[in-house]
Amino acid sequence: MVEKDYLISPSILSADFTRLGDEIRLAEEAGADWFHFDIMDGHFVPNLAMGPALIKSCRKATDRPFDVHLMIEKPERHLDKFAEAGAATISVHIETCPQMENTLAMIHDLGCKAGIALNPGTSAEKIRPFLKNADLVLVMTVNPGFSGQSFMPEVLPKMGQIRKMLDDINPGVPIEVDGGINPGTIRQAYDQGARIFAAASSIFIHPGGIQAGMNSLTETLSHPA
Ligand code: DX5
Ligand code: ZN
Repeated sequence: MVEKDYLISPSILSADFTRLGDEIRLAEEAGADWFHFDIMDGHFVPNLAMGPALIKSCRKATDRPFDVHLMIEKPERHLDKFAEAGAATISVHIETCPQMENTLAMIHDLGCKAGIALNPGTSAEKIRPFLKNADLVLVMTVNPGFSGQSFMPEVLPKMGQIRKMLDDINPGVPIEVDGGINPGTIRQAYDQGARIFAAASSIFIHPGGIQAGMNSLTETLSHPA
């Protein structure tokens, strides 16, 4: 048995919203460590999804930390609302934050951990100056906007590069990977240094149910490569 050195953060984007509290409780019973919330504004990404009120309601369903992924323009206008709603970690995209250092400081001032997210097409160099101030790096392995897309393996070398940069600059900071994580891709991301796995469709729309979806991910990581 290999000791668990990773976290699973189910993304509720693929949950059944008519029974969201139950879905969250089932995922927690199945071993969810965090929950991932995908906030979309229809500008930075083509889709619209979720706001602080939904997060606040979900806080009643679980005590697990909430990992809030802001795919929105001008995120600094809304950080306080997500912190008040119960976010533990707030991740903002480098593509939307021209003043990233200030934005990370705002998140910290609100009492949350601060993550830097980057799209598949954005180079690791763009985030380097801010790694010393981050608590998390969220590496997108799909173009953000929708669940159920295919993992982009071409992002893997960048993930390894970011892990090396973090080892030099801020070694305690984990990499979270988001997009197309399933039993066939999770190990590839792990091997490049990811230790937090956001996953929506492979958990919430697994044909065998939520427990089976969680098991299929964790089993892959519980065996040595
Ligand atoms: C994509 C979101 C992801 C998405 C992942 O824009 O940021 O968190 O929910 O969905 P899957 O795991 O189905 O690729
Ligand atoms: Zn996400």
